[in-house]
Amino acid sequence: MKQAGEPITCATAYDWPAALALDAAGIDVCLVGDSLGMVVLGYESTLPVTVDEMIHHAGAVKRGLKRALLVVDMPFMSYQMGPSQALENAGRIVKESGAEAVKIEGGASVAPSMRALREAGVAVMGHIGLTPQSVHALGGYRIQGRGQTEGKRLLADAVALQAAGAFAVVLEGVPGALAKKITRALKVPTIGIGAGIDCDGQIQVWHDMLGALPGAPPRHAKAFASQFQVQLEALKAYGREVKTGRFPSLKETPAP
Ligand code: KIV
Repeated sequence: MKQAGEPITCATAYDWPAALALDAAGIDVCLVGDSLGMVVLGYESTLPVTVDEMIHHAGAVKRGLKRALLVVDMPFMSYQMGPSQALENAGRIVKESGAEAVKIEGGASVAPSMRALREAGVAVMGHIGLTPQSVHALGGYRIQGRGQTEGKRLLADAVALQAAGAFAVVLEGVPGALAKKITRALKVPTIGIGAGIDCDGQIQVWHDMLGALPGAPPRHAKAFASQFQVQLEALKAYGREVKTGRFPSLKETPAP
């Protein structure tokens, strides 16, 4: 698709109904992101998410997909200790959830784990720039790669991941001009989120894209629907009808 200049569409999903919709909509790649922690489980960051939680949600998503490629995030501290930990946990994720690929965050420092996974036959996506698992080390959810030195470092990270076998690299929260440079430098596709228009594909978080949480989505996102509002209205209508005796009616009542 990169060679053909066809933009790659990616979105996150965390359960079976979402996977059914994503697949039916023709989205190319489905990521069970560890954003799960923040948009589904109510944690303040992605850090508490466990391998078991990722497997539980990814298994549900897998059962809803017929066509889209299923990529599953390896959560914080499930691969940072090095290749053998990465192999053990990626093995569990692939075997127990049915994932077709895993994603790990980090640049050149995770290249040895990326290489070990590829040598074991696991397809791996990279993720650089604003890497939420390093939120405290980064000093917050900030744009990365600004300025020449940082830009060069991110480019070198992207090249190192490709050399280690990444089949694609997510660029999150990086200036558009840098994302363009990295995209041109790599043979494998870049997938952007908050990285401008020149990446080979785009990824959005389900809840941001569908307006499924109260409040405005982050600046890099666009809400293509107002799911939270629709649910709120429906729940209020249900509550009203039960309180006023309009639901259930005879229509919803079993015949004698
Ligand atoms: O966890 C996630 O949803 C992600 C995407 C934002 C790329 O890593």
